[in-house]
Amino acid sequence: MKKLRVGVLASGNGSNLQAIIDASLSGDIDVEVAVVISDVENARALERARKAGVPAIYIAPGPRRTRLSPEAEKEYARALEERDVEIVALAGFMRVLHDDFLCRFNGRIVNIHPSLLPSFPGLDAQRQALEYGVKWTGATVHFVDAGVDRGPIIVQAAVPVLPDDSRDTLAARVLEEEHRIYPLALQYIAEGRVRVEGRRTCIEPAEGPVFGNTDRRGPS
Ligand code: GRF
Repeated sequence: MKKLRVGVLASGNGSNLQAIIDASLSGDIDVEVAVVISDVENARALERARKAGVPAIYIAPGPRRTRLSPEAEKEYARALEERDVEIVALAGFMRVLHDDFLCRFNGRIVNIHPSLLPSFPGLDAQRQALEYGVKWTGATVHFVDAGVDRGPIIVQAAVPVLPDDSRDTLAARVLEEEHRIYPLALQYIAEGRVRVEGRRTCIEPAEGPVFGNTDRRGPS
């Protein structure tokens, strides 16, 4: 099967990137990580990519704090297109993307967020969940549109909030699920099984063996 060419944008630790790389190198998913780009020169994500033999580039974000400058955004797009990237996966990328970029990769950008969206969008979703007092939170992989953490949802996983959880113990439990569902969502896309109808995505039934044994868990 032809591999889906994925470009990953990451600003930090890159543990989700690692999960995607590991699943792709082991052949569990039909994905090739074609390039990793970061707005942070010494991001651990870049190190992880280089260690795995994946092209890793730092592209300076420009002077703004929460977004890329228009010039930088063009450079990001060019770097992804040069490597024939089909899907852009945001994995802890701390910049909001804007119209030109979103149009160029329309419907082809995905993100992972550490909550059950639409609850707790934005920064530190795990702390938000803890402070709100929910009994369950989780992780969401979704398509990216012009809103923050708002596009159609591809896969979610629920995680219990335990009575003695701190922000960090909860975040660690959520992260485990992130590492499971991000490769899974990319595999659904690689298999051409994801259909978007308005806000809803439909995952078509698998033809062959199923990665992640999700059918046992019911709808994701
Ligand atoms: C993850 O919690 C992800 O959901 C959020 O940023 C964090 C990135 O972690 N968007 P890592 O860099 O993948 O370890």
